[in-house]
Amino acid sequence: MTKTKIGVLVSGGGTNLQALIDFQKNGGLVHGELSLVVSDNPNAYALERAENAGIKTAVICKKDYENRNGFEEAVINTLEENDIELIILAGFMTILSESFTSRYPERIINVHPSLIPSFCGKGFYGLKVHEAALGYGVKVTGATVHFVNEIPDGGRIILQKAVEIQDGDTPEILQKRVMEQAEWKILPQAAEIVSECIMHS
Ligand code: GAR
Repeated sequence: MTKTKIGVLVSGGGTNLQALIDFQKNGGLVHGELSLVVSDNPNAYALERAENAGIKTAVICKKDYENRNGFEEAVINTLEENDIELIILAGFMTILSESFTSRYPERIINVHPSLIPSFCGKGFYGLKVHEAALGYGVKVTGATVHFVNEIPDGGRIILQKAVEIQDGDTPEILQKRVMEQAEWKILPQAAEIVSECIMHS
């Protein structure tokens, strides 16, 4: 049987992409293969990580299209040309429309840096999530990997991992701890779980 072809959508530093690459290199990704990385930002360091790992890349910028629909069509065309079966949002900072997500039911997964349903949805991304968690005063936060549907951060949860907040945490310190202790572990694990399901479907 052929492995599930994975396309990773990124916008920035790509440390979650790196975790996927390392997991594949170490033999953890048994049922999937990283086939394509698509960035909506030409300067994303994630692109370099992909190139270093020998993974095909594509850059698709919103500003090159008249509207969101045109941008999303371009992304879909690129995914289809590469026979992508599983889409992983790894620090992808664009919210996808319902017309996009409904094409791929339970075929798109996202990593979010909090324990959903806390600190999620529109406006909660990147450091803002950690600022909100610290601002609220929670003692435990974490990360969630979930399927993507038409509700931002609202799809079925696949994996979650808790991370403790410590005295003196800043949003930056907390972001790093959540990545190291949670995101970089549960995203690769979820990629394998869902790749296996797709291979057997
Ligand atoms: C990660 O913390 C990811 O969970 C978050 O952005 C960061 C991207 O880092 N994603 C979101 O907030 C999505 N709502 P990376 O580019 O180094 O993987």
